[in-house]
Amino acid sequence: ENCLKNRVSGRINFYRGRDLIQALKSLNEAFLVEMGQQDEFKVTPWTVEGVVDYEKLIRDFGTEPLTRELKDRLVSLAGEDHLLLRRSIFFSHRDLDKVLHDYEAGRGFFLYTGRGPSGPMTLGHIIPFYFTKWLQDRFRCNVYIELTDDEKFLEESRNLTIEDVRKWSFENALDIAAVGFDTNRTFIFQDMEYVRNMYPMVLKIAKKVNFSWVRAVFGFDASTNIGMIFYPAFQICVTFFEKRRCLIPAAIDQDPYWRIQRDIAESFGYHKTAAIHSKFLPSLTGPSGKMSASQPESAIYLNEDEKSVRRKIFQAFSGGQPTVEEHKRLGGNPDVDVPYQWLHFFFEEDDEKIRRIREEYSSGRMLSGEIKE
Ligand code: TYM
Repeated sequence: ENCLKNRVSGRINFYRGRDLIQALKSLNEAFLVEMGQQDEFKVTPWTVEGVVDYEKLIRDFGTEPLTRELKDRLVSLAGEDHLLLRRSIFFSHRDLDKVLHDYEAGRGFFLYTGRGPSGPMTLGHIIPFYFTKWLQDRFRCNVYIELTDDEKFLEESRNLTIEDVRKWSFENALDIAAVGFDTNRTFIFQDMEYVRNMYPMVLKIAKKVNFSWVRAVFGFDASTNIGMIFYPAFQICVTFFEKRRCLIPAAIDQDPYWRIQRDIAESFGYHKTAAIHSKFLPSLTGPSGKMSASQPESAIYLNEDEKSVRRKIFQAFSGGQPTVEEHKRLGGNPDVDVPYQWLHFFFEEDDEKIRRIREEYSSGRMLSGEIKE
């Protein structure tokens, strides 16, 4: 009740149906976070639920925190800094130190990332591609981009046809190409089309991974279709496209695949893959979960027009107080305020400016409408 009183005020009228339920869930979770009583969260390659505790994820997944020292080394070899590193949006890794060592020793490395073409891409989905392009520019490496039309067809909850996933592969490839990768060093492919070149390696991988293993890693059960059970072999396969070490920039939800890869790679005479993991750009409907293309009000699409972007931002979950008077008295909470989080994540590059916005907003001098503007 408190949560609703403090946060919803006029905004509740904007939400309908599933979005309303999502908004209420987020409000409740934000409230619990503030009260220090948040529930468990869940991160898998297919869902992100609850308020993610990234420190705990590092422990649960067994990855390494991206330390200041390692970041400095990466920045120094790259010859320039990157916003997503500086703001700790990339926060965790596997074997990044070995990648840098290979680079210094002249062996080089290659980059791999991907997209599940289930619909239009959101701002969250494009973030790893921007970072991958930066790494490519700075380290002059090959980039492989997998479009997993097979995976998205097989995911039963999505209800997509073969034609749908083909269409979205094409559309998403255009958005990815627009990021501006080096055309001489970049390969974008669709699983259904490129399968014949991958299949021998896919089979070798599949033979090494039994059902109880993928059941434990991905939570599959006896009702999971056999396509989904086989699919991980495709996502793992790309890490074996070259004999050099592979570095995968992605959000941390994709890490379970790399865990399996790292257990089998050396038996094939390949390197264990390295990875650099990002946090999730928060959903517009609140601090819980990631933006989701299947919930239109939670996300902004790359092809959305200005009017609609504006409308969504102005309805976004706010850490402000219900009335201007209260806001001026109590101040806003930037840690749950989605517009502030978005500025911090991606949109405000100027460190001094973001510090000032945080201060002004927390003190109540800056209003919710102003931060959204
Ligand atoms: P997909 O299409 O779910 O997501 C594409 C990429 O976007 C990342 N991501 C996000 N990053 C920041 N904020 C968010 N809110 C957010 N939501 C998603 C994902 O981690 C991913 O990097 N199975 C994969 C496709 C794939 C892949 C790969 C991804 C195949 N091979 C190798 C990364 C690396 C998928 O469905 O991604």
